[in-house]
Amino acid sequence: MNIILLGPPGAGKGTQARKLVDERAMVQLSTGDMLREARSSGTEMGRIVAEVMDKGHLVTDEIVIGLIREKLTTGMAKGGYIFDGFPRTLAQADALGVLLADLGQPLDHVIEMRVDDAALVARITGRSTCAGCGEVYHDVTRPVPADGKCANCGGTTFTRRADDNEDSLKTRLLAYYKQTSPLIGFYYAKGMLEGVDGLAEIDDVAASIAAILD
Ligand code: AP5
Repeated sequence: MNIILLGPPGAGKGTQARKLVDERAMVQLSTGDMLREARSSGTEMGRIVAEVMDKGHLVTDEIVIGLIREKLTTGMAKGGYIFDGFPRTLAQADALGVLLADLGQPLDHVIEMRVDDAALVARITGRSTCAGCGEVYHDVTRPVPADGKCANCGGTTFTRRADDNEDSLKTRLLAYYKQTSPLIGFYYAKGMLEGVDGLAEIDDVAASIAAILD
């Protein structure tokens, strides 16, 4: 099963993708994570990517489609893929359609995580991530365990993203509404769009997604 999690920054795409990986042996393909890896590579491409991401703009279609193509053509995951943060433009959606068709793979569900913009500032500014395994925490709604160790891997280093600030979030939201939200109509017209209430508790959102997948 291959699915897309669609939603603005902070909607909870990464949080839910990690749950699906644990529970269903699916593979998370997050273009954000791939780009953060590229930016720390020390290459010229990494430097350009870092500048674009920190401002909250979208990286070019060419770069992200190339990253996804590389992952998909090096062997399909048995449990299927969760596309997290991809596609983000109509060009990316078209490219994904072609890639999956070439591989003889279906796109089974497009799940829109519906949230209220007002909740996103608090979610984004309170987020931290385990440097060891990428587990996502929040200062209020999902704090790091009291012993200071990641519940998933026991790591003790937690990082905050350079683009997790109010200024960058404004640009990221604008990019979402201008470049990514047309995908809602695109997949709706294809009869593939399903929605969940992303403002619910994390486990309740997971249950709504499970109801769609099952
Ligand atoms: P990316 O890394 O994809 O970031 P994003 O889409 O902005 O989404 P986030 O990771 O910020 O949020 P999320 O929805 O995963 O929320 P999370 O689960 O962490 O992209 C970053 C940048 O990379 C882009 O700006 C762009 O520059 C570039 N990029 C990436 N992909 C690209 C593409 N395809 N094309 C072009 N450029 C691309 O949750 C957030 C917080 O809320 C956490 O602290 C979490 O604990 C908490 N939380 C989650 N769910 C709940 C809940 N139900 N209740 C309460 N708290 C919750």
